[in-house]
Amino acid sequence: MDNNNACVVVGGHSAELKLRSSTIGPSVLDIGSLYEQTKMFTYDPGFTSTASCESSITFIDGDEGVLLHRGYPIEQLAEHGDFLEVCYLLLYGELPTAAQKKDFDYRVVHHTMVHEQMSRFFTGFRRDAHPMAVMCGCVGALSAFYHDSTDITDPHQRMVASLRMIAKMPTLAAMAYKYHIGQPFVYPKNDLDYASNFLRMCFAVPCEEYVVNPVLARAMDRIFILHADHEQNASTSTVRLAGSSGANPFACVAAGIACLWGPAHGGANEAALNMLTEIGTVDRIPEYIARAKDKNDPFRLMGFGHRVYKNYDPRAKIMQKTAHEVLGELGIKDDPLLDIAIELERIALTDDYFIEKKLYPNVDFYSGITLKALGFPTTMFTVLFALARTVGWIAQWNEMIEDPEQRIGRPRQLYTGEPQREYVPVSKR
Ligand code: ACO
Repeated sequence: MDNNNACVVVGGHSAELKLRSSTIGPSVLDIGSLYEQTKMFTYDPGFTSTASCESSITFIDGDEGVLLHRGYPIEQLAEHGDFLEVCYLLLYGELPTAAQKKDFDYRVVHHTMVHEQMSRFFTGFRRDAHPMAVMCGCVGALSAFYHDSTDITDPHQRMVASLRMIAKMPTLAAMAYKYHIGQPFVYPKNDLDYASNFLRMCFAVPCEEYVVNPVLARAMDRIFILHADHEQNASTSTVRLAGSSGANPFACVAAGIACLWGPAHGGANEAALNMLTEIGTVDRIPEYIARAKDKNDPFRLMGFGHRVYKNYDPRAKIMQKTAHEVLGELGIKDDPLLDIAIELERIALTDDYFIEKKLYPNVDFYSGITLKALGFPTTMFTVLFALARTVGWIAQWNEMIEDPEQRIGRPRQLYTGEPQREYVPVSKR
């Protein structure tokens, strides 16, 4: 047997499996030939030990609290970069030169408008519809408008679709918000940077001049950077799985949005803020900590815990700093929700239950407070996450399409239902 391989003996069959090395992080055992050699499948619900693909985009060390995009630490990107620079990095693998950045910004900016017919889609929804429901529908509908960028075998069309999605998501997200609150849509303004343009589309009204606050725009941009990609999370895996059948990228991203909506994933920032509001005062925190620890109570501390991070989520630290910057800029000296968040974090980080289970605040714990201060209603929080994650979904989707090993994603199962039996006519049952 090759020394680089592993031998597995099961049910009297032995199988030689290839070991594949990573650049950093765990290597993998390639089980692709296991069934052929042993007539057995592996079983791993939730993919806790299973790599679903090979990727060179993002790396996470959950024990050490490390997050790298194309090798660059998230802290450095959030401190020194801007969101479109991070988009370029995720899509192309390298940081852009000044000329490349200028060209990329130009290309994104010139796709910010959506087809005018799209506005009719919005008016088909009830005003009180959750904006994530509106986003699922409208982003999926993009494939009905941009037929010239749905041929996934053409690299040029793939890149046009990618730029379109990065550019149009803020426009669609702002439209979903404006429709929700009954205000007219605001068209994009291409001389503004990505985050400023988005804030303007959300908060400008036709009867007044809108002046962008650079501190708030920088905070918005940083929130986008922090959410840009997170390797094979549930929504990204959904996008990859949808794309593995050859579906067009707009449809795949709509699938990602649907997955992100769940409270265990992107919906957690909304749930975290709702939880802080429900707790209401610092003196009620112990009651909620006790509920979180009670096995018979389904309550969980939202914004705490992560499948991969068993240490402080590095994004949460930057998010906490951003929350303070935004509240400081807006002159919000005493935000009761921030007080509750800080105290809750302090208590949880010293509590044995949370220490033993390695439950630390995740990025969603502080993002809700920041987004609320920026003026967004809680129902928009997950929409903002989807906007930022679009580049990650698209970069991962492109990587999958270009991967020569890519096949349709088709998991197997452990069947525990009835064995074959004979049909009995209804008169005899
Ligand atoms: N509050 C209280 N207990 C918790 C929490 C929490 N937030 N999270 C996990 N636990 C406990 C579980 O009850 C479990 O206890 P047990 O071993 O006694 O059964 C143990 O910690 C492990 O939890 P799992 O659910 O098995 O961990 P998993 O990796 O499957 O789930 C998840 C991770 C979904 C993020 C979970 O921690 C959670 O529900 N957190 C709250 C929701 C949240 O903040 N989600 C945002 C994720 S980040 C993102 O999507 C950007």
